[in-house]
Amino acid sequence: MDKTQKLENLHKKWIAECQCELKKTATQAVPGVGNAEAEIVFIGEAPGKSEDEKGEPFVGAAGKFLDEMLAEIKLRRENIYITNIVKYRPPNNRDPLPEEKASCREWLLEELKIISPKLIIFLGRHAMNNFFPDQQISGAHGKLLIKPFKGMSTKYFFSLYHPAAALYDGSMRETLMEDFKKIPKVLEEIEKRQKNK
Ligand code: URA
Repeated sequence: MDKTQKLENLHKKWIAECQCELKKTATQAVPGVGNAEAEIVFIGEAPGKSEDEKGEPFVGAAGKFLDEMLAEIKLRRENIYITNIVKYRPPNNRDPLPEEKASCREWLLEELKIISPKLIIFLGRHAMNNFFPDQQISGAHGKLLIKPFKGMSTKYFFSLYHPAAALYDGSMRETLMEDFKKIPKVLEEIEKRQKNK
């Protein structure tokens, strides 16, 4: 079975089995999408209104901004995989609660295990704190973080401000764009480290 089929099966299983309370208020599940063979996986926070309606991550305003930034580094959605820590929309887009993050955690970890990307990029502090609870996004953004996690082959992480937060904030937008442009160099750095192992 190839990675695409494995992901399809995984999403089917979790859509049936996920015990997340948000299921009661959301229209539908929003599983990750994209290239199952991708070198980069982007992880956001939770679906918003447009994502809840369409059943796909990052299809609203933040997603359009993300597409612009991807184009700056010559990448398209087909080249990457994108998912969220929480797969159901929280009511009125409130922050996901710890128990909601916990109930979708295994789903996310299994996605990452199948794809086994070179680099995981966090979109915003919620995604970052899911793996690095002690880091502040103000200090960690734009830097390569290296940490092995049990059962995961990926150990390279990179944090960005969330595109929705930066969308209408001039200086944050500029910082996000600058951090984003570092991604190709970060991949080169990872390759170098892997060769020298
Ligand atoms: N914001 C997120 O964090 N995820 C989405 O899918 C859309 C907006």
